[in-house]
Amino acid sequence: MQILDLKLLNFRNYEKLELQFNPYKNIIIGKNGMGKTNIVEAIYVLALTKSFRGSKENVIIKYNTDLARIEGTIKDKYKDTYKVIIKNNEKKVKINNTNIDRISDYISRINIVLFTSEDLKLIKDTPNTRRKLINIELSQFSNDYLKILTMYNKVLKQRNSYLKLLYVNGNASKDYFDILTNQLIEIGMKVNKYRADFIDNISKYIEVNYEKITKKSGLKLVYKSDFLNKSKEELIKIYKRELNRDITLGKTNIGVHRDDYEFYLNDKNLKDYGSEGEQKNAVISLKLAEINIFKEEKNVNPILILDDLFSELDQQKINNILKFISEDIQTFVTTTDLKKVSKKLMENSKVFKVDNGNVMEG
Ligand SMILES: Nc1ncnc2c1ncn2[C@@H]1O[C@H](COP(=O)(O)OP(=O)(O)OP(=O)(O)O)[C@@H](O)[C@H]1O
Ligand SMILES: [Mg+2]
Repeated sequence: MQILDLKLLNFRNYEKLELQFNPYKNIIIGKNGMGKTNIVEAIYVLALTKSFRGSKENVIIKYNTDLARIEGTIKDKYKDTYKVIIKNNEKKVKINNTNIDRISDYISRINIVLFTSEDLKLIKDTPNTRRKLINIELSQFSNDYLKILTMYNKVLKQRNSYLKLLYVNGNASKDYFDILTNQLIEIGMKVNKYRADFIDNISKYIEVNYEKITKKSGLKLVYKSDFLNKSKEELIKIYKRELNRDITLGKTNIGVHRDDYEFYLNDKNLKDYGSEGEQKNAVISLKLAEINIFKEEKNVNPILILDDLFSELDQQKINNILKFISEDIQTFVTTTDLKKVSKKLMENSKVFKVDNGNVMEG
């Protein structure tokens, strides 16, 4: 899959921009703060309708304007045009100029693997960051997952509100509350199944990738979940047991919203025992595994974005990454310094020079 062109209107520091991409390798170069990440961010938002930077949607709208538009042609089996329009608190998506009413019917069509310097901290980061990554991956695989996850979050919110009500009014009816708990368990079990299968699957690729990069074996991904291998009956019991604590704290303390996963190298948790290098190599293996899994399981080549990796990784590690990425994967690399880009990549790439919101090809 490839993005052939990109048109922006009032996106970040671009008032108007039109770019034609190389179907394979693209390098975006410029000094700090010029708008390199903004370009790859636009591609990401075109695919996922949300940015990877911050949770507020409006930040991508250019200062002092009220509507941002991203448009791009994606070539997969066919060529289709995709459009994301973001207004204050309103979002519209279109495929070939037809409105798509549900975001979950839009996401999963354009597949992206994003690798930023931030990701290198993944192992030390919060469970929330790791959950986000798996949610984005799974949403791209199945729009069913995104629907189920959205439902889970809705029920969780309702249950938490009801817990607060029970705190102030111990006599409030428990019937509705029991329905919510039941729903949360049933939907949570579905989320759990998707995640468990995915982590199992991706763990195999990670192990192989890590061995290729480091010549060392034994890297595993381990899923941590309150729901893992639990029957519905067992979960009902657990929720009953936790009820008083839930009411006191005013929130649900058990569930897949607390899920996490950990990286183990030969049975040692990398978070606690891994060196910087081992942790970085593990994340690189994960990113390569994301590409593997799109290829093997979905039969697509995702679009790969490598944002600002040169600031955190040396030449050798970057080359290691590029060596394992097949030629036919469309790749976007951002950098402040062309000297850091290998000759081979330079020769095959289209280069975009970014200078304060102006982009020159060549
Ligand atoms: N909503 C917005 N409207 C206008 N400009 C914005 C908006 N959001 C961010 N910017 C500007 O975009 C610029 C940052 O762009 P970007 O993050 O793409 O830089 P970069 O080239 O990737 O830099 P670095 O090398 O430091 O990563 C900043 O100067 C910022 O002021
Ligand atoms: Mg940047």
